[in-house]
Amino acid sequence: MWSAFLGVVALASVVSACTPSVTTVSGTHAPVTVCSGALIFSDDFEEFDLEKWQHENTLAGGGNWEFQYYSNNRTNSFTDDGKLFIRPSLTSDQFGQAFLTSGRLNIEGGAPADRCTNPQWYGCERTGSPLNILNPIKSARIRTVNSFSFRYGKVEVRAKMPAGDWLWPAIWLMPAYNVYGTWPSSGEIDLVESRGNRNMLQNGVHIGTQEAGSTLHYGPYPDLNGWERAHWLRRNSNGYDRNFHRYQLEWTPDFLKFSIDDVELGRVTPGSGGFWEHGGFNSNPNILNPWRYGTKMAPFDQKFYMIINLAVGGTNGFFPDGISNPTPKPWSNNSPTAATDFWNAQAAWLPTWGLNQNEGKDASLQVDYVRIWAL
Ligand SMILES: *[C@@H]1O[C@H](CO)[C@@H](O)[C@H](O)[C@H]1NC(C)=O
Repeated sequence: MWSAFLGVVALASVVSACTPSVTTVSGTHAPVTVCSGALIFSDDFEEFDLEKWQHENTLAGGGNWEFQYYSNNRTNSFTDDGKLFIRPSLTSDQFGQAFLTSGRLNIEGGAPADRCTNPQWYGCERTGSPLNILNPIKSARIRTVNSFSFRYGKVEVRAKMPAGDWLWPAIWLMPAYNVYGTWPSSGEIDLVESRGNRNMLQNGVHIGTQEAGSTLHYGPYPDLNGWERAHWLRRNSNGYDRNFHRYQLEWTPDFLKFSIDDVELGRVTPGSGGFWEHGGFNSNPNILNPWRYGTKMAPFDQKFYMIINLAVGGTNGFFPDGISNPTPKPWSNNSPTAATDFWNAQAAWLPTWGLNQNEGKDASLQVDYVRIWAL
């Protein structure tokens, strides 16, 4: 009896022991103590918890002149049956077609949750004109900027990518405090991005729904970004829009590793020269290394927060010119009227979104869960 009792006591102390972790956290939903291996943030989307997820409210277009307007509206972001949906809709559904070419949108609101979150790139107020229409698509972008940020850990997001021409879903992380300066000095971690086109080929390669990518952005200033040395693609002939997949990040003081369904996509294990050397920036003696007082993982040695969004189009080349698609790409990436060109080709792309079937769920980015563990 006595030895069995001692065994129970010993087991209980093993179960409750907390091994300290190298992972650090902050935010309203961060645990007070971080134990090694513990689940430190999760959402199964049984309900839409806006204490965890803050909506972006902006016309800014992600700095890429993307065509969407992000707002907090249950048409575009909602949970149903334990899943998060980010679904695109037409701005004209709400304001009418004529509004796009002549209306004025001022999205600044008075309530704390209604403030414009990004004034850059005419993000809080725009006036439409026939050549430069207002953002024709409504969508959503949500983030844990106030609720949870962390440094080092394991992330797994089970998600299904949307199908529909020119849709650009993303599940990613941005630096909470820009410790090394503004983008891209403090880094960016793109867990997964894809393109909604079902039949888009570039040089014979399917770069639409059959391709998913992970990327790190880092560099001393926007024109000097080492992302091409930290960018991986995986192909799936079934399409990432057909099934849920698990998109994974393992982030330690030694490496950043991306996987899909437990199969590694790629990793960076920087040497002692860190990301400065990895990016090849050390060949230019005239640029000061913003990470010189950080660790070899800098800028990825600081806290990041999660973002989930569905963008459309844009002129930064994510949708390259000269690709083949059943209907041609309606804008060119150097067009000063890209959003207008896109909108005028509505008859070509809108049917591919299937907004009238199945509540537009096929065109939605769907997320089953987000889980983050301490190392
Ligand atoms: C939410 O979106 C729908 C569809 O676009 C629109 O009809 C409605 O007015 C929006 N609600 C608000 C408060 O803007």
